[in-house]
Amino acid sequence: MSGGRIPRDFIDELLVRVDIVDLIDSHVPLKKTGNNYVARCPFHTEKTPSFSVNRNKQFFHCFGCGASGNAITFLMDFSHLDFVEAVEDLAGFAGIAVPREAVDYQPTQKKEDLNSLYALMEQVAAFYVKQLRSGDEGKKAAEYLKNRGVGGECAGNFMLGYAPDEWKALASRFNQQALIDTGLLITHENGQIYDRFRGRIMFPIRDKRGRIIGFGGRVLDDSLPKYLNSPETSLFHKGKEVYGLHELLQKTTKPSRILVVEGYMDVIALAQFGIHYAVATLGTSVSPAHLDLLFRFSSELVFCFDGDKAGREAAWRAIASIFPSLKGGRQIRIMLLPQNHDPDSLVREEGLDKFTERVQTAQVLSDYFFEHFSKDLKLSEMESRSSLRNEAESYLKQLPVGAFREMMFEKLSSLTKQHILDNEAIIAYKNQEKKHRLKSGRPSLPSLVIALLLQNPKFIQIVEQTEIDWDQLEFDGVEKFKNILQLIADKKPTNYGVLLEAFRDHPDEAIVKKLASLDLLIPEDGAEVEFCDALNRLLTQAKSANLDRLLAKDKTQGLDLQEKEMLRKILTKK
Ligand code: UTP
Ligand code: MN
Repeated sequence: MSGGRIPRDFIDELLVRVDIVDLIDSHVPLKKTGNNYVARCPFHTEKTPSFSVNRNKQFFHCFGCGASGNAITFLMDFSHLDFVEAVEDLAGFAGIAVPREAVDYQPTQKKEDLNSLYALMEQVAAFYVKQLRSGDEGKKAAEYLKNRGVGGECAGNFMLGYAPDEWKALASRFNQQALIDTGLLITHENGQIYDRFRGRIMFPIRDKRGRIIGFGGRVLDDSLPKYLNSPETSLFHKGKEVYGLHELLQKTTKPSRILVVEGYMDVIALAQFGIHYAVATLGTSVSPAHLDLLFRFSSELVFCFDGDKAGREAAWRAIASIFPSLKGGRQIRIMLLPQNHDPDSLVREEGLDKFTERVQTAQVLSDYFFEHFSKDLKLSEMESRSSLRNEAESYLKQLPVGAFREMMFEKLSSLTKQHILDNEAIIAYKNQEKKHRLKSGRPSLPSLVIALLLQNPKFIQIVEQTEIDWDQLEFDGVEKFKNILQLIADKKPTNYGVLLEAFRDHPDEAIVKKLASLDLLIPEDGAEVEFCDALNRLLTQAKSANLDRLLAKDKTQGLDLQEKEMLRKILTKK
């Protein structure tokens, strides 16, 4: 949006300049204990502090919920920012400007232009609000809202308005090109230009920062189309935005759950009844982009669907489409509504308490998922079990690797009373085993070497002074090991916070974080000796594993030229 990429070097330098202790302390007051600064974790509720910030490593970690990262991660999580926003925020904290790399493409829209479009949207919304309060037409519209039970305060919070039933109400008042750019005008084939929204109740759609990016408009009677929405513009991307998020965040920045409904009026009716945690998708089905957006603010989403057949089908389509973006820590519940109700009509009929209870007791996604499959199957029959297995598996395979995936596979195998001994289950098992080892504090030798290196990036010098012939090494994960070493050697990070930046969104990010926060129970001045020892042991073991393999192969299949040469090299060196 604002030109080129932020140079990597700048980000690294920024992480060195800013002290994470100062940064976090300005958001969450910290207390010093020993080498660390601690506080009650801002990312989960707790009575005793398990959130700690380490100045040497420039790294925070919560032993309670596992949240961890560098200064940028902290701002992304704490202030709900995306990466670029967090870097900008951090630069602001350090009092320096963010440079941008030169770009060789023409940005479609300059920042100033966008700002003037946002300003226009604001003026248009204010105009619509005024129309709701004036003239006979406005009165009729206000009456309509009143009849639907929308009070003045609620209408104000959502900035509801009215677009008069005229062809050029906007066209005659505002800049024509800007109106076209924001989708508020329609250009007819014959060259005629006129207002898109006429004679409709207007719902401004705001982004999470409160900027108006589009509108929805509803007729006052039964005519069609019932709702019109802004088209895709440079401000408005339907599949990525939801209605009501800004209004929700005005009430609470950390909702314990977010209810996802279908309609504008559902969000408004719920707010009217004191349920301020609902948002609506904008006439599209829920997308992974919606999930990413909403899970920044809450760890639990409740999706509302009609209870009829069409609604259940819609629910299933939605679930299928979001499967690849599900992971641990992301709780989803499915709430099916009684026939012929939407949240608007239901909350009016049942009131706040009953509706809230429905939300709280909505079925968790995993239950909903398995129920969907097993509903029509008699699981006592073997064919049914295998059909369940086949169908469910094709979905589960899409889940990202992690605890949630493992749990779902386990549940499937217990339902089908059959162990799924395909590769993936074996991989999952191996991962689990690894996890156990990490938990029990017994890292494997390669892990120990990496962990020590991550916790003391300066040890990379030792590695560089050691002659390593990678071809001769053989151990589990040698490629990964080599890549991590290479990255650290290239980067020469001053501290762990900088190092972590190099691994953001990297396939090894999770393992790096895990190893870095491993408590190795080694006193600080003993770390170097421990590292040299572990590295040497690893190299020796890996070489002899390789030697064993070569010798064994020599006996059975024989060696090719390359292998013979390697064997000769190893044996002569020894
Ligand atoms: P509904 O027709 O269920 O809307 O469509 P609703 O909010 O319950 O409408 P009321 O109660 O009659 O006022 C749900 C959503 O689908 C989109 C809108 O976003 C709407 O809120 N929609 C619906 C359209 O975009 N266009 C339409 O013509 C109808
Ligand atoms: Mn409705």
